[in-house]
Amino acid sequence: MASIRDVAKAAGVSLGTVSNAINRPEVLAPLTLRKVQKVIEEMGFVPNASARNLRAGRNRVIGLIVPDISNPFFTALAMGVNDAAFAAKYVVILCNTDESTDKESQYLEVLSAQNVEGILITPARETIRALAKVAEKGIRLALVDRPALGLQACSVAVNDSYGGSLALTHLHELGHRKILLLTGSEDIPQVADRNTGIRDSMKEIPANQLPQIMELRLDSMSASNAYDAMMKKIESGVDFTGIICGNDLIALGAIRALREKNIAVPEDVSVIGYDDIDFAGSANVPLTSISQPAYELGFAAAELIISECENPERHVHQRIEFQPRLVVRSSTAPTKSHRANLRIS
Ligand code: RIB
Repeated sequence: MASIRDVAKAAGVSLGTVSNAINRPEVLAPLTLRKVQKVIEEMGFVPNASARNLRAGRNRVIGLIVPDISNPFFTALAMGVNDAAFAAKYVVILCNTDESTDKESQYLEVLSAQNVEGILITPARETIRALAKVAEKGIRLALVDRPALGLQACSVAVNDSYGGSLALTHLHELGHRKILLLTGSEDIPQVADRNTGIRDSMKEIPANQLPQIMELRLDSMSASNAYDAMMKKIESGVDFTGIICGNDLIALGAIRALREKNIAVPEDVSVIGYDDIDFAGSANVPLTSISQPAYELGFAAAELIISECENPERHVHQRIEFQPRLVVRSSTAPTKSHRANLRIS
């Protein structure tokens, strides 16, 4: 049985044009209409639910584009999206960009061509301009784990700047004055915001207590990349007592390297992650981390985009911001000198 896509492909037109030939022939140019009708006759196409859905502009499908589905943070976020979509009888097309803006652009095109009703996206980079072009085509967008900034769209995000300041303040209060910042590229918006928070909180510290921050950039925010980089860093000398990691995967990779080199965590070096993924609490060294409500981010973002799909005329864009929180476990501790000052054995 020929499908509406078969007809569109054979006639060399979009799905929407085939739908119009079936439901609103008056909007098509006569030549186009005749061409599509001829293909429908030749293929024996019979309109069904897909045509009805297209007629109503409804297919109850939303897209979700995230930068790294291997990161448990985005797995939890996708679970939240999926649960909210299921409750509303929608389905989700999941796209993983591997932090590539090229892949992100391709996914946006494919999802638009698939006529999904809305797209949730965590941009791989600060690609607000590209997203604005997609929105101009009438595709409903909502940002998840990213504020909408200048975009006319809903967004659900976490205050990453505050998260960065929580991490710096925690290590500083434990006496750490030589801190390694082990994270990804500042092109990644979440990284940039966290680093801004670290720098801003430094301004609140008296000059005689200012920590020295050394930065080590990673090509990807993965445990393996962090492990490799930390092994090299240790070879060149451990001139720090604390590490602020861009996310928990980086922290787990760094701790693996430190322990392989017989550097005790937290006795010799304290390590703090970001995300508080499920594994963080059950890691070899239970990880101190900055917790983000990944599942709630996804669930709230999906509810917003579905609300817009259901009531486009009455929808008003919303900007939701969650606050991160510090979760202290055993991967951070006072420095030896700080313990001596506090007379902690
Ligand atoms: O994608 C980079 C990071 O941003 C993830 O590790 C998670 O922390 C997200 O917020």
